[in-house]
Amino acid sequence: MTVSDLPTLYRAHLSTIKARVDLALEKGGFDHLLVASGVEKYEFLDDRPYPFKPNAQFKAWLPLTRHPHCWIAYTPGRRPVLVYFQPDDYWHVPPSAPEGVWVDEFDIRVISDPAEAVKHLPASGKAAILGETDAALPGFEPNNPKAVIDFLHFHRAFKTGYELDRMRAAQRRAVPGHLAAHAAFQAGASEMQVHAAYLAATGHTDLDLPYTNIVCLNAHAAVLHYQYKDAAAPDRHRTLLIDAGAEVDGYASDITRTWSNGDSGFAELVAAVDDEQQALCARVRAGTDYRDLHLECHLRLGGVLRNLGIVDMDPGDMLAQGVTSTFFPHGLGHPIGLQVHDVAGFSDENGQLIPRPDGHPYLRMTRTLAPGMVVTIEPGLYFIPTLLSKLKATPQAKAVNWDKVDALLPYGGVRIEDEVHCTDAAPENLTRDAFASLP
Ligand code: GLY
Ligand code: MN
Ligand code: MN
Repeated sequence: MTVSDLPTLYRAHLSTIKARVDLALEKGGFDHLLVASGVEKYEFLDDRPYPFKPNAQFKAWLPLTRHPHCWIAYTPGRRPVLVYFQPDDYWHVPPSAPEGVWVDEFDIRVISDPAEAVKHLPASGKAAILGETDAALPGFEPNNPKAVIDFLHFHRAFKTGYELDRMRAAQRRAVPGHLAAHAAFQAGASEMQVHAAYLAATGHTDLDLPYTNIVCLNAHAAVLHYQYKDAAAPDRHRTLLIDAGAEVDGYASDITRTWSNGDSGFAELVAAVDDEQQALCARVRAGTDYRDLHLECHLRLGGVLRNLGIVDMDPGDMLAQGVTSTFFPHGLGHPIGLQVHDVAGFSDENGQLIPRPDGHPYLRMTRTLAPGMVVTIEPGLYFIPTLLSKLKATPQAKAVNWDKVDALLPYGGVRIEDEVHCTDAAPENLTRDAFASLP
């Protein structure tokens, strides 16, 4: 892939988007699609805006991520209009003149006042208007028709060549951050310092990361979405669990790595989870029900618990009796793309729910894998005091080696997370490829 291929990929992407929208509008009985990029939101009784996050339906058309008050107006068969907001603002850096691979594909109308957009939106016909309520303009209130949204969301799971290219780039942006984080851990850094090393290596600020980095030292690794970053380094560095991504042109990566300091017991656990994670990545094949893969993950992790002498039970019994869920209390993964937890993980083209397996309330994907989908594969094993104390009160507690559990508590847990592209043949592991491509 060279940079010069990007315009070709983008044009093909836009054709796919238009073809999907044509069908979605027909399904919903609409003449036009209008998409609002969104508006900045302000803190209550203050003049400080929250970080702007664009409507993902807008980002699907073109890589504008810092652009409130813009609109796309599309009528099947016609060149899409982009209403491009470029205020005369000396307090902030206004959006620069439109540039990029997408410019030639739109009829661009520059406005300096958000209200001017109405002059460029269709005056007649029935419009599906996608956007948040706050983006409404007189006569153009977002209606977010379910039939249109369900159809577009369902198809967004199938990435175009352009999207895959941008997602590979988002992996390559994140990987140097993971390597820098590991080096900082080895050098005895605090969580805050690990985080700073990650930001410096990826060129991200906190505000433009696709999600808040999860940076856990030691027992904090047991907190699935640990939200703080301690300024002080611990006395001893046992574990680094870092769940951190990057963004390129509006597309996210979402990578977790767990590092041990070599302590036996925990290092073995990390290696065993890594082995199972890679085996699961290899199972991302067209026709596989992601729910089955999630259940297979439980069985594999049950095997790890048994092999390492942590739980003395058959893995199938562990799954059936909820024991694996104590140590692996989240889902195998989720779709990813324009959003980290991308839409439509649970529904068919008509928005019908595809249910989760009973007893697995946190699984974020229930669809059957098909070529073009990109999903995360993120098994983990954790030592979470509140869940362990519940297990201790059950008959299954007698199968647990509590001395081993107590010895592992200060290490928190392990999660390994990659993004995997389902193809017609062998899966493409976007994350491992990015690690392998860097020195
Ligand atoms: N970073 C959140 C997740 O892995 O889903
Ligand atoms: Mn994830
Ligand atoms: Mn993650």
